[in-house]
Amino acid sequence: MEQAEQIKLGRTLFEYIDKDEQARSEVPFANPVSDYICRDQADRERKLLFRDHPLILGMTGDLPNPGDFFTNDFAGRPILVVRGKDGKVNAFLNVCRHRGAKLATADLAQGCARTGGSFTCPYHGWAYGLDGRLLGILDADAFGEVDRPARSLRRLAAVERNGFIWVRPGSDEPFDPDTLLNALAPEMAAYGFERYSHYQTRTLRRAMNWKLVIGTFLEGYHIKILHRNSIASMLLGAHTSFDPYGRHVRMAVPRTGFRTLREAPEDEWDVLKHTAVVYALFPNTVLVWQGDHMETWRVYPGATPDESVMHASLYIPEPALTDKATRHWDRNMKILLDTVEHEDFPLGEDMQRGFHSGAQDHLLFGRNEPALAHFHRSVHEALCLQEA
Ligand code: FES
Ligand SMILES: [Fe+2]
Repeated sequence: MEQAEQIKLGRTLFEYIDKDEQARSEVPFANPVSDYICRDQADRERKLLFRDHPLILGMTGDLPNPGDFFTNDFAGRPILVVRGKDGKVNAFLNVCRHRGAKLATADLAQGCARTGGSFTCPYHGWAYGLDGRLLGILDADAFGEVDRPARSLRRLAAVERNGFIWVRPGSDEPFDPDTLLNALAPEMAAYGFERYSHYQTRTLRRAMNWKLVIGTFLEGYHIKILHRNSIASMLLGAHTSFDPYGRHVRMAVPRTGFRTLREAPEDEWDVLKHTAVVYALFPNTVLVWQGDHMETWRVYPGATPDESVMHASLYIPEPALTDKATRHWDRNMKILLDTVEHEDFPLGEDMQRGFHSGAQDHLLFGRNEPALAHFHRSVHEALCLQEA
């Protein structure tokens, strides 16, 4: 975040603290329960949001060197993302062009893998370059004249920009991440995430709709109740800001130490150090700036509307090279996982079951939950759904 923007945000948060207020929308928002359980809507989401729409599948720090790769099947198609010899990130369908075997396996949760400069299919040994070209066919005579360029790996559109690796799972139709990020692009660029190292990723599966997982992060209203014994003492959840950027959202929650900023003149304020900044990057990424590092939550639908799968990751400003650093970042990883695993997600799974009970047709988002309403409105708009 640029310094001028930090000062602006800092002033807003001080205003909320002084007036015992927070960002509010004009009116409450009634969100249909069908949003979380309707199979037709889930199919539409899979197509429009997880196949046609570019997604942030990883960060620059996930693929530090040429030849590094990870795979991802969660968007509904098997995808292989690899850093080429030229340093550029390529994405392909992870499907061998001989008879369709899965070419490579490297779940982000196990860390990226390294090729020896090419991929060899585990079935019959066809080999492909990091640029997807078909390099070698075992017993090639058996296949007659093979049009090798036409049998290269099927390419998907991929762009690495400001530390984010975007891929369009459904096609190679080009896109521009800055256009997608809208007015948020300069702010994301200012963080310098391309210099961050990947610390750890966990893959979590929960019996909750993917939007309910994202909604977990989009209001500060619940912090002093649900998190009273964990993170409530660290955050001033009742003084949360809200800024929409197209379909994206920024929400900032002052930390308890935020008030100390008053001791310095505005142009020396380090607002980011004393604030948790939550971005919902449309459609499925939540990025949480945590003062000196960041977490990402990349959330995908599961097999039914009642399930989701996600990558929870920690990225840090410098590689953890000492035991002390490892202990420090392990502690951070534990806090982030414990809070959601013990508090937010069990409650969310109960909500998901309750959605099927017929208790209500709509949930009510208060004026004090504007980011949540904005996120759901954005989804409805992208799916061309009518609002109630
Ligand atoms: S399916 Fe890959 S070499 Fe046969
Ligand atoms: Fe929470």
